[in-house]
Amino acid sequence: MKHNEQQPWTLETLLVHGSRKLAISHHSGRPTVQPISPSTTYLHEDAEALDRAFSGELPSGEKAYVYARQGNPNAQALENVLAEAEGGAGAVVFGSGMAAIHAAVLTAGLVPGAKIFIARDLYGPTIGMLRSLFLPFGVEVLLRDLCSPDVGQMIRDEQPDVIYAETLSNPLVKLIDLDAISAAAREVGAITVVDSTFTTPYLLKPIERGFDIVVHSATKYISGHGDCTAGVMICAQNAHVQQAHTYATMLGAMLGPFDAFLVSRGMKTLPLRMERQCDNALAVARYLQQHPAIERVYYPGLADHPHHELATRLFRRGRFGGLLAFELKEQSRAAAFRFMDKLQLCLPATTLGDVYTELSYPPMSSHRNLTVAERQHIGISDGCIRFSAGIEDVGDIIRDLEQAL
Ligand SMILES: Cc1ncc(COP(=O)(O)O)c(C=O)c1O
Repeated sequence: MKHNEQQPWTLETLLVHGSRKLAISHHSGRPTVQPISPSTTYLHEDAEALDRAFSGELPSGEKAYVYARQGNPNAQALENVLAEAEGGAGAVVFGSGMAAIHAAVLTAGLVPGAKIFIARDLYGPTIGMLRSLFLPFGVEVLLRDLCSPDVGQMIRDEQPDVIYAETLSNPLVKLIDLDAISAAAREVGAITVVDSTFTTPYLLKPIERGFDIVVHSATKYISGHGDCTAGVMICAQNAHVQQAHTYATMLGAMLGPFDAFLVSRGMKTLPLRMERQCDNALAVARYLQQHPAIERVYYPGLADHPHHELATRLFRRGRFGGLLAFELKEQSRAAAFRFMDKLQLCLPATTLGDVYTELSYPPMSSHRNLTVAERQHIGISDGCIRFSAGIEDVGDIIRDLEQAL
């Protein structure tokens, strides 16, 4: 299929048809799918050509490959599509979401003496990584309430060098106001990084909202089938893309060809999957809301969620994501375990964003390293369950929850 340069494709079309050109040339017929290229190294016509290939580009403008850790055609094809999907200058793919986050904060400028603001309820291992790798090198790592309505003033007053947030918090699905954060960050010259794993470009494009760097655990919605581990970083500026690529190569964090292939393949159906996951999550949220065994439901698609209005402004397509959390009336570990053990269709799994519906118990999984008091401080009770909608029939999902409750 030839790309029409005049009319940019919608996300749905872009993800199905991929980037404008395959990442490797084929003179004997053009495949519709980027072939998997497991080669560790790439041979060139002669020593002069090999020397040119080290620059990463051929005189024709085509990508040149020399050694797989520096880049491979499958990673490149995925990077091209993701950069376009997020509206960035370029993307770099990594072996996991954590590797992408590590490279993103390095790219954003975490040098000794720098000050980073991080959201209080970030994914636990992200806080752990920032504290254990960067605090000892003299980076000031400051937890802040980035959901606060005063976030803009806080940034102007304290002038951080880097701001790191998540579009939706885990597990209580709170939102940040990306417009307010990016506007204040620009005023004080801070670099903004956001983990958009839970929203994906289907719901939100943070670069369009003024953010500098977007990261995803592509292990989740982007690949979507629970069969690979991957991360991605998309940058608004080309200089950041080059820097991130250098870190990926230097740290050996580059995504391998097989996993890049799986992510590319899974990503073709991202809009279809997310449409169904958002619709299923809304139906389940409404069902749980009226259930006598449920104390409270957290879902930005419900009018009583504190960030419902913000979600309506920020999210595209009038949908609110595939994730929600709820509290059992009986707020105890024993009740949560009983409920999880009774599930027959939904998977008690520590991941999310897959085609399967998955439930997890945050006090045991994502927030197990916090004390009860710390968990309570961020609003996670002992009866809290996280729910990630899959693409199954919503009637089957609700019947499974009903018998388990
Ligand atoms: C929001 C978020 N960011 C990052 C990560 C880390 O991604 P990965 O497991 O692919 O390293 C996770 C993993 O659960 C996550 O939920």
